[in-house]
Amino acid sequence: MDNRPIGFFDSGLGGLTAVRALRRILPDENILYFGDTARMPYGARPAAQLRVMARQDLDFVASRGVKAVLAACGTVSSTAPDVLAAYPVRTFDVLSSTVREAARGASGPIGVIATAACIASGAFQRALAAACPETEVVAVACPAFVPLIESGHYESGDAALRAAVAEYLAPLREKGVGSLILGCTHYGLIEEAICGFMGPGLRTIEAAECAARELALWLRKEELCGGTGEERFFTSGSAEDFERLSAVFLGRTAHGAVEHVDEMEV
Ligand code: DGL
Repeated sequence: MDNRPIGFFDSGLGGLTAVRALRRILPDENILYFGDTARMPYGARPAAQLRVMARQDLDFVASRGVKAVLAACGTVSSTAPDVLAAYPVRTFDVLSSTVREAARGASGPIGVIATAACIASGAFQRALAAACPETEVVAVACPAFVPLIESGHYESGDAALRAAVAEYLAPLREKGVGSLILGCTHYGLIEEAICGFMGPGLRTIEAAECAARELALWLRKEELCGGTGEERFFTSGSAEDFERLSAVFLGRTAHGAVEHVDEMEV
């Protein structure tokens, strides 16, 4: 039993979908979350910069005494896997567990949607090619999704969101993709819009969910579960905005206060 919190970080609010998924499995864990909203979107940044930022984000959460860190960000997971792996605290990414899940029972082409930096890294494509070499992979960058979601355009009927979904997902629908990886932790929030466009029968594989399950399995195996359900949130952006939108991502009001921290320099 270990009551130290689990650290989560993301460029903004998207990683809260991983917190929500973990809470469903282990409701009593203590959570420490950092959303680097001031530097969002990560997906528009070069890989070299993202690797420095990944280290800064890790240091930020780890310095507060966590038992493990989940990089709840597809962009960081794909551009800085070695930074995560070499870190002295146990880290989890959102890529490996997601690819394992997608490869299980895939029939027909697998689609991957994620940020521009994530798709450009080729990390999902390489991991899928290794896990299921016979399967065609269709990878599409969706750079407008994160800014749209963070500015409140996440409802399935939202006109701007629908236009972006139609533009990005048309090639996936044309290819007859049957399994679709939501490779960015923000995308769980727009799953309804995605499924609505792609049509019935689509299997979505949510990176945030897969990573939360992997983390929970590890905590149980190592007998490190424990906590009182406390939550602390930090954001480099506006604490008020974070508090308001976090309810949408978490599916409930946050238990803990949101604290503003100064923007880090890269
Ligand atoms: N949630 C982040 C991810 O999973 C979004 C990155 C961004 O800010 O572009 O990639």
